[in-house]
Amino acid sequence: MKLVIGNDHAAVEMKNQIMKYLEDKGIEVVNVGTDSTESFDYPIAGYRAAKLVASGEVDGGVLICGTGIGISLAANKVKGIRAAVCSEPYSAKLAKMHNNANMIAFGARVVGVELAKMIVDEWLNAEYLGGKHARRVAMISEIEETGRLEAAEKQ
Ligand code: RB5
Repeated sequence: MKLVIGNDHAAVEMKNQIMKYLEDKGIEVVNVGTDSTESFDYPIAGYRAAKLVASGEVDGGVLICGTGIGISLAANKVKGIRAAVCSEPYSAKLAKMHNNANMIAFGARVVGVELAKMIVDEWLNAEYLGGKHARRVAMISEIEETGRLEAAEKQ
């Protein structure tokens, strides 16, 4: 498995810890974030990471900034990306099972590193359920691709 990790200046230490955690599991990790604590604009890391996921060059991505919000918002602007910000493992698991999230995000100023590891594990180990969830994920893609949602306009 190959993942990408992206971060801004608020999350350098956590990025390093999560990278090591993943690499110790035998997962290859591509680092597209900053390694400096100098101010770094999170959309750059979010965009770089999202492009690798969307192109299929990696199997998924981990995004970390102060809150996880800005970097995930940027990543979600890339077509095909479903990045979920999670502060606890239950949502991380469901983000994969129901929403087929291909990126997981969290905040280095919000969660501690041990909780972050649990969040990553739940997301990584969960499987997308498909079925009725596939219809809803397809609706998200319809909005992304057409700027419209036919089912919503009918009602
Ligand atoms: C940087 O100060 C901070 O705004 C950023 O890390 C992130 O929390 C944005 O969403």
